[in-house]
Amino acid sequence: MRKSQKNKDSKYLILELLKSQQHYISGEDLAQRLKITRQALWKHIAQLEKHGYEILAVPHRGYQLISIPDKLYPWEIQYKLNTQFIGKEIHHHEVVNSTQDILWELGLENFPEGTIVVSEKQRKGRGRLKRYWISGQGGIYSSLLLKPHFMSLTQVPQIALLVSLGCIYGIKKATNAKCVLKWPNDILLNGKKLGGILCEVNAEADRINFVIVGIGINVNTQKRYFPSGATSLVLETARKTQRAELLKKILEETENLYLLLEKKGFSPIRTQWEKLCSLWGSRIKVKVFTKEIEGQAIGIDEAGCLILKKDAGGVETISAGDVVKLE
Ligand code: BTN
Repeated sequence: MRKSQKNKDSKYLILELLKSQQHYISGEDLAQRLKITRQALWKHIAQLEKHGYEILAVPHRGYQLISIPDKLYPWEIQYKLNTQFIGKEIHHHEVVNSTQDILWELGLENFPEGTIVVSEKQRKGRGRLKRYWISGQGGIYSSLLLKPHFMSLTQVPQIALLVSLGCIYGIKKATNAKCVLKWPNDILLNGKKLGGILCEVNAEADRINFVIVGIGINVNTQKRYFPSGATSLVLETARKTQRAELLKKILEETENLYLLLEKKGFSPIRTQWEKLCSLWGSRIKVKVFTKEIEGQAIGIDEAGCLILKKDAGGVETISAGDVVKLE
């Protein structure tokens, strides 16, 4: 049984009440509903303003929420979050070296499945194949704790494929942008890299203790922050996106897929993933450590490995590597 926990403090409740009103809500009404004094209410409002909320206070009328900051605050991600266990516990940071490291420690302390660490920036964000993940202001840098005890260690790559699919669905729901996938788990928009997934596993023999799934998405990030070949949602759509809203959609979609995996296995995920992959029909080059193989990508197998029809003849399944499109 997965545990669900919601941390509803006064700040969260005040915001909920302010969001539910189109116009003003009186201080008396707010204080009464929260069962706090007017002075305590005033302190909470001042705290919210410090967090970047714009709240209009008009004598004899009350309070009105004018704007919400673009921050990855837990209470914003959790507001109307429609999940059973993902995101019930969220740890927010302004800056960390890597959200992966923070969540790894929480994993060792046996935090519940679905726990999330988010950060506004990272000093040492890391990507696949020991690459650096540039993590400037405006992106989503998030790690998710999963405990897929129903899988074997060799099946863990399926998790990264599943989460990249969850990201594509979440991005579509929140922004209407239509992204595609590049094996193993790159998220592309208009042919450029928008985000990626990094899975790190804590396991013994063939028992998985936990998986830390890192999600990095360039959302409102400016061009100076990333290399050529990469992009952000704001650059492609010319619109800013509320990152908390986007992450919420990603978490909801990811949980649906994860529950589907638990119930029905990888097959339905594989079908959905293949539909959104941009590689089919193209000639590609796959770099596997020091080796390079050219051929045509024809699908992924039940373990999530890429199936390559080699130019040199024969078919090879590849479990890890980097893909470059040749035509
Ligand atoms: C890739 O190489 O495509 C995967 C990038 C994953 C980056 C994310 S950002 C949040 C989490 N923390 C990290 O240090 N990396 C992952």
